[in-house]
Amino acid sequence: MKRLIFIGPQGAGKGTIAAHVCPKFEIPHISTGDMFREAIEKGTELGKKAKEYMDKGELVPDEITVQLVKERITHKDCYAGFVLDGFPRTIPQAEALDKEVDIDGVILLEAPEELLIERLTTRRQCRNCGKIYNLKTNPPKEEGKCDICGGEVYQRDDDKEEAIKRRLEIYKKETAPIADYYEKQGKLHKVDAARDVDEIVKDVVAIIEKI
Ligand code: AP5
Ligand code: MG
Repeated sequence: MKRLIFIGPQGAGKGTIAAHVCPKFEIPHISTGDMFREAIEKGTELGKKAKEYMDKGELVPDEITVQLVKERITHKDCYAGFVLDGFPRTIPQAEALDKEVDIDGVILLEAPEELLIERLTTRRQCRNCGKIYNLKTNPPKEEGKCDICGGEVYQRDDDKEEAIKRRLEIYKKETAPIADYYEKQGKLHKVDAARDVDEIVKDVVAIIEKI
């Protein structure tokens, strides 16, 4: 079973690495951030609630987020496992998840703060399919247009300087302790994420193969 969690600060590359790794193991990539952004695009009640918090760089309350993930991991496509990207990110979320399923491994992607800020300010994402780009390291072939689906490539509302700072602060306070939580369970695997995507993917795949 490959029930996995990717943790790491904003911009470490959780979404980027998961997009390469998940197809190799034929498991779904479950990003709570992407799920909230989809709900916002669709204008649902969940989206309206989440937007208030997300635009400011604040965390969406645990009750809402836990419920969303609890439901998602019961879907058929999760039978062989999954990668949770961006969940859990508080200790109460990690405890709630432990009550639902046994997690097999946790990958911590680490990178220095200057690099994170540079990656986030140059990040772009497809509004339609969610593919992640970077103006410097991985731009779309045609400006503003997704290579995969032709959708609009835009800058996330929380990738503005103020919200980025707030998100990194919250990471240190609320999410970093999760690494210790999983270390104590013997499930944590640290990966240097300040390298080329291919090198990181190679290491992460090797770790997952052994889990
Ligand atoms: P979420 O969407 O999860 O955002 P995040 O945590 O801020 O993380 P990011 O998506 O910014 O970083 P990433 O590590 O995925 O980096 P990426 O691969 O894109 O959450 C958004 C919001 O939703 C939260 O702030 C919160 O409000 C809410 N939320 C979500 N989950 C929640 C939860 N569990 N509880 C409460 N609230 C929740 O890479 C970044 C950039 O760098 C890209 O441009 C990419 O191309 C580039 N890049 C990546 N890796 C490399 C590399 N190795 N070399 C060169 N460039 C690279
Ligand atoms: Mg992400």
